[in-house]
Amino acid sequence: MTPLKARSAGQALSMALKLGQETLANTDNPAREARLLLAHAAGVDQAGLIQLDISDFNTEVMSRYADLLQRRSVGEPVSKIIGYRDFWNHRFEISADVLDPRPDTETLVAAALKGPAPDRILDLGTGSGCILLSLLDEWPRATGIGSDLSDKALDVAQRNADTLKLTDRVAFMVSDWFSAIDGRFDLIVSNPPYISADEMRGLSREVLNHDPHLALTPGGDGLAPYRVIAAGVAEHLTETGRLLVEIGLHQGPDVSAIFRQAGFVNVETLPDLEGRDRVVTATVR
Ligand SMILES: C[S@@+](CC[C@H](N)C(=O)[O-])C[C@H]1O[C@@H](n2cnc3c(N)ncnc32)[C@H](O)[C@@H]1O
Repeated sequence: MTPLKARSAGQALSMALKLGQETLANTDNPAREARLLLAHAAGVDQAGLIQLDISDFNTEVMSRYADLLQRRSVGEPVSKIIGYRDFWNHRFEISADVLDPRPDTETLVAAALKGPAPDRILDLGTGSGCILLSLLDEWPRATGIGSDLSDKALDVAQRNADTLKLTDRVAFMVSDWFSAIDGRFDLIVSNPPYISADEMRGLSREVLNHDPHLALTPGGDGLAPYRVIAAGVAEHLTETGRLLVEIGLHQGPDVSAIFRQAGFVNVETLPDLEGRDRVVTATVR
């Protein structure tokens, strides 16, 4: 892409955005995505676009923009290209090693925050750390452990904790669900991989090619992590503790049954903003 032949910064901006929208015509929101990618190419945030000078639309920036548009047009998610995703109150670094945090997961954060402030929180399968770090930020006296099977994911979570200045209240550890976890927690949260083997076949390339397989599916019926969590959670919850797990669209009845059979009470399914089952919550008594 050559530098835009514009006579003013405003004209260069609108030409660049028009080009981006045309290239991304088949994506969900071409206007928004073009703005995000242009801002990333120019090294500014979206609000900074209107402050760019005409000289900022130079060959280097425009060829970087062309490269980002190309990556997006072949299915790479914008968040993976720009390296961050806004979730709850903060911006989280993400990479190919972590699930791109989904807006639906904010339902779990909102539901957790309706309960009493915990002293200790455990987040199983923490990924980018988006759930745990959002909760720790909301509850300034709480401490937390984030665990994951992926040490590369934990590196990302640790960097997010550094950025959010939460390192003195959080620890991350590699653990296969509860295997390396000691002690009891007032709140245990998890958004485990829950897509069944059948559903994986229908997933978009955008998700399949860019979110880690380990973060998406445990294989089989997708319920294995809930069974493992249900079997281990009583040993790690305080007497008044709460458990909240994110679930897939049709998993409410099965996941509720798993927790009831494991002896949990107050088992409830909560909807997301679109009214779909999204979270199961339970207590030990
Ligand atoms: C759906 S992602 C959730 C990530 C993050 N908590 C979020 O909500 O965006 C599931 C996470 O569970 C982790 N995971 C998968 N199998 C695991 C296991 N056996 N033990 C611990 N974590 C596991 C994955 O690496 C991934 O980070």
